[in-house]
Amino acid sequence: MKAITYREYGGPEVLHLEEGAKPAPKDDQLLVRVRAAALNPYDMHLMRGTPYFLRLIAGLRKPKFTGIGVDFSGVVESVGNNVTGFKPGDAVFGGCHGALAEYLVIAGQGLLKKPDNISFEQAGGVNIAAKTALQALRDAGRLRPGQKVLINGASGGVGTFAVQIARHLGGEVTGVSSGRNTELVRSLGAGHVIDYTQQDYTQGGAQYDLIIDSIGNHSLSANRRVLKPNGRYVMVGGPKGKWIKPMGRATAAMIYSKFVHQEMGMMMARACQDDLALLAELMQQGKVMPVIDKTYKLSEAAEAMRHLETGRVQGKIVIQMD
Ligand SMILES: NC(=O)c1ccc[n+]([C@@H]2O[C@H](COP(=O)([O-])OP(=O)(O)OC[C@H]3O[C@@H](n4cnc5c(N)ncnc54)[C@H](OP(=O)(O)O)[C@@H]3O)[C@@H](O)[C@H]2O)c1
Repeated sequence: MKAITYREYGGPEVLHLEEGAKPAPKDDQLLVRVRAAALNPYDMHLMRGTPYFLRLIAGLRKPKFTGIGVDFSGVVESVGNNVTGFKPGDAVFGGCHGALAEYLVIAGQGLLKKPDNISFEQAGGVNIAAKTALQALRDAGRLRPGQKVLINGASGGVGTFAVQIARHLGGEVTGVSSGRNTELVRSLGAGHVIDYTQQDYTQGGAQYDLIIDSIGNHSLSANRRVLKPNGRYVMVGGPKGKWIKPMGRATAAMIYSKFVHQEMGMMMARACQDDLALLAELMQQGKVMPVIDKTYKLSEAAEAMRHLETGRVQGKIVIQMD
């Protein structure tokens, strides 16, 4: 089978299309023929091995695991003896390391049946970004109906899901994006859109119950200025850096939070099949729809990664299997 692999850290040029053996599922696993997979900033961090502390887990000098990609959709080809709830031919989606491959072996807990009203390409882009958006709004942000929520980075992978989920949870949504994306963000359900090239949201008069920040381009004190007295600031993404910069802001938010009324902190998305099931239901009901920026072939994975690294992606970048 064909798969994208990398054997050293670096830029997109370290990604190679390789031919390997088709994996065989164990008794508690399924074999899935992948139809689509998606890229996330997470994959870029693993590819580059930065921030460097990530290498403590991923491999100090070179990656321990040579596969890349997590999010996928596909069709079950065979099931192990102990697997229940799935059968060959089921259309599924979920997350599994090494998803940029024609086949994956995965335990049943990592995947769900694909809603039939969304394409394989759409389903392939759901797992990380949508789960992050849901957990940031519902768990870390505790968004309640009628509350004002601002989403900074509303046109990105996480942001496009966050706008829709916030709307579903009953929030009054303000999305922050550049001018070319304001219509997209509005169409996803934002009642207000701020074009960051024209206006700095931390300088406006509006105050928010919740800020979901996947960009981190304003100081914590500037964000606090536009938070209500009991508001919450949830950091999803932060400044890029090779060393400590990304974690520095998370630590600062934690410490800052101790001295002010508002809650400020970073959230880390976690694997949760119930959340994936809820997202599948919302997609089935048409309340949440994945947004795809561009689709690439498996052999174009390096080019797709270059696109992701521009930081200008609208929704998700999807890799389609040939
Ligand atoms: N904490 C977690 O568990 C977790 C999970 C997933 C992702 N993340 C992090 O969250 C961040 C976002 O992820 P993502 O997948 O959404 O990334 P992404 O899709 O690559 O984000 C790209 C989007 O950001 C927008 N953007 C860039 N600069 C902006 C600015 N100054 N103001 C507002 N929008 C701006 C771009 O729009 P324009 O082109 O219009 O500027 C583009 O649409 C990343 O740092 C990622 O590592 C964290």
